[in-house]
Amino acid sequence: MTDFVTVATTDELATGERLVVEINRKWIAIFNIDGQYYAIEDMCTHDGGELADGELIGCEIVCSRHGARFDVRDGHVTRPPALIDVPVYETRVVGNEIQIGPRKKKA
Ligand code: FES
Repeated sequence: MTDFVTVATTDELATGERLVVEINRKWIAIFNIDGQYYAIEDMCTHDGGELADGELIGCEIVCSRHGARFDVRDGHVTRPPALIDVPVYETRVVGNEIQIGPRKKKA
């Protein structure tokens, strides 16, 4: 994915909510945390659980299958059994459109 794609408008994704979209055959979960938008691949690196189904605690999403946690801001694992970070995508807001861009490179 090289270009940004509009996935929703800001009034469709309120603070604390998430939505899942399919872009280029990947499922991506987008979160609104205090007005900031974050996008991660919606697949747990432990065993493929759908992360968007999990509980959001602060900036961490809890995989509903076995309890791994990931920081949605940068994708890093904060609790096992997952050991590998989850991919993160660029986000931006243009006007009132939330857009998802390329996969972020690791810092
Ligand atoms: S599939 Fe997510 S913790 Fe196992």
